[in-house]
Amino acid sequence: MREEKPNYGSPTAHIIANLTLGIFLLVTAFLGAFFLNFFFALLALPSPYFFWMAKGWARGGLLEDKLRIREDFIRLVGVKDGEKILDVGTGSGFLAIGFAKKMRGGEIVGIDVWMPMGGGLSMQKALRNAEIEGVSGRVIFKRADAREIPYPDEYFDKVVASFAIHIIRGWEKAVSEMIRVLKPGGVFAVLEPKKGWAGGWRVDQNLKVKLEELGLRRVEVRPFTIHYPKERTVFLVTGVKR
Ligand SMILES: C[S@@+](CC[C@H](N)C(=O)[O-])C[C@H]1O[C@@H](n2cnc3c(N)ncnc32)[C@H](O)[C@@H]1O
Repeated sequence: MREEKPNYGSPTAHIIANLTLGIFLLVTAFLGAFFLNFFFALLALPSPYFFWMAKGWARGGLLEDKLRIREDFIRLVGVKDGEKILDVGTGSGFLAIGFAKKMRGGEIVGIDVWMPMGGGLSMQKALRNAEIEGVSGRVIFKRADAREIPYPDEYFDKVVASFAIHIIRGWEKAVSEMIRVLKPGGVFAVLEPKKGWAGGWRVDQNLKVKLEELGLRRVEVRPFTIHYPKERTVFLVTGVKR
């Protein structure tokens, strides 16, 4: 019997979205240039990028690449038995389960809003992944918004997130909540791309100052190369609560 593997995000939604955009641009460029104005042809220029991305998501081996990201993240951030750790925007339990596998004792919590349109991520998938990875019962999953974390001040030793903060509208509120629930001296660590969508997240020279204003010290922003789905650079942003 084949061993069941955890599911930390299916590539199908990404493949469909990239193919749809690529085809939409090509068709609009063609029809626009033919019926309206030749300059519509320029719309075809970005379409190869979307086809290239769709090919990346379809290439296989993505689970191994994603697990490598988790290994590197945990190695760089560190972990001790008995800690209380919060994974914000946990999705399918990605970081929470990774930490649980490395620890004895402690309390590990993953929170997420698990929106219906959230790319198929769900609390059920997180619970199933915990079972498959052998840490069932050692991770707690809760439906909660990062901007209103249902835990008291100074509760956690570490608060972490991967690929979640950059999509939150009002990410500063989420980060200030993450810092509120950290113990003084506790570790904040998030892995995020350079730019967010609508939320205004941006890794630039102002980020360090903003995070210090929100209550962190020793803020570091390190480039972090991933191969998911293609080789690209994201950023490991760490700090310690004052
Ligand atoms: C791209 S997924 C990343 C999931 C997981 N951390 C990983 O690396 O596989 C982003 C996650 O953030 C969650 N999220 C978005 N807005 C949120 C919010 N305001 N509070 C909590 N979670 C949120 C989404 O539901 C989604 O599961």
